Amino acid sequence: MMPVNQADQVVVHTYLGPSDERSLADDVLDGLTKPFKELPPKHFYDARGAELFDRICELPEYYPTRAERAILEERSADIAALTGAGELVELGSGTAAKTRLLLSALYDGGTLRRYVPIDVTERMVRDCAEALVGEYPGLAVHGIVGDFERHLAHVPPPDVPRIVAFLGGTIGNFTPGSRRRFLRRLAKLLRPGQDFLLLGTDLVKDPSVLEAAYDDRAGVTADFNRNVLRVVNRELGADFDVDAFEHVAFFDHEREWIEMRLRAQRRMTVRIAALDLEIEFAAREELRTEISAKFTPERLSGDLAAAGLELVDVLTDPDERFALSLSAPRQ
Ligand code: SAH
Ligand code: AVI
Repeated sequence: MMPVNQADQVVVHTYLGPSDERSLADDVLDGLTKPFKELPPKHFYDARGAELFDRICELPEYYPTRAERAILEERSADIAALTGAGELVELGSGTAAKTRLLLSALYDGGTLRRYVPIDVTERMVRDCAEALVGEYPGLAVHGIVGDFERHLAHVPPPDVPRIVAFLGGTIGNFTPGSRRRFLRRLAKLLRPGQDFLLLGTDLVKDPSVLEAAYDDRAGVTADFNRNVLRVVNRELGADFDVDAFEHVAFFDHEREWIEMRLRAQRRMTVRIAALDLEIEFAAREELRTEISAKFTPERLSGDLAAAGLELVDVLTDPDERFALSLSAPRQ
């Protein structure tokens, strides 16, 4: 049981309901009836998918989490001093593991008032909200269980300077056009002269390093990739033979993104009961499950500028694998 004073500090609003089974159903109907099949990556993250992602972050090959953490360890105090933020809004907050570095710096700087985590995984939003009010006395947490592509309007209005954080390189999971559209919508959460966007972006590097990060030796990423089929089986009564799909991850040199796919190892027919639909897979046919765009300084500044944002600082780790940028609305 939480003490009463802590319970007062936490609100969690859920915007995912029956219509979100619809959103999965719509994505599956659209994505699996296209000539080139694809599913959006947000459906990886049921409880098992979230747990697999946590394991990915610990893998020797998956460097982005460690690189971003190294930047936050080194520079959180500077970010806190420069922004003087009283509120941290975080999209795709997950377990908020790295976020604590930033929260601690804002807390130590005496400005921190409220944390607003947004994630599709309800358990993570609730657990982290309850843990954080214990860790930072006086902190208010306004958790949002929702889809950051559809529920940004529910972010409460700020009454102190705010940082909107989008960490981990999750912005790379958008295709380039929707990435710019999404950044434009994020920019609307920021007031000129007061608020900042803190954006984590993975950088273009040696393709062998990139490909290893998405095809680890222990097979955790392969399991994470296949998890989307388990989600569709459970939520939509489908009969995917999950083990009959091979994990594929490669760097697309032209587009400079990692692409994850699932390749059918034989010809098969999959029945999706909730959609009253049968989908045919040819032997070796591939289903795209994620892109993970990698950034150059030009791509980053071009995307931010297109969203009406001006770079304030770009911070990188010592090996220059990952960038954390601070930007603000053009005045
Ligand atoms: N920020 C953390 C987690 C990154 S993993 C880190 O840097 O390590 C991506 C997170 O975004 C997951 O927690 C997943 O549940 C969440 N997520 C993915 N798509 C989402 C969406 N459309 N709306 C809300 N959350 C989403
Ligand atoms: C959440 N996102 C930034 C991760 C990435 O690297 O694109 C998801 C992931 N996919 C495979 N491994 C990790």
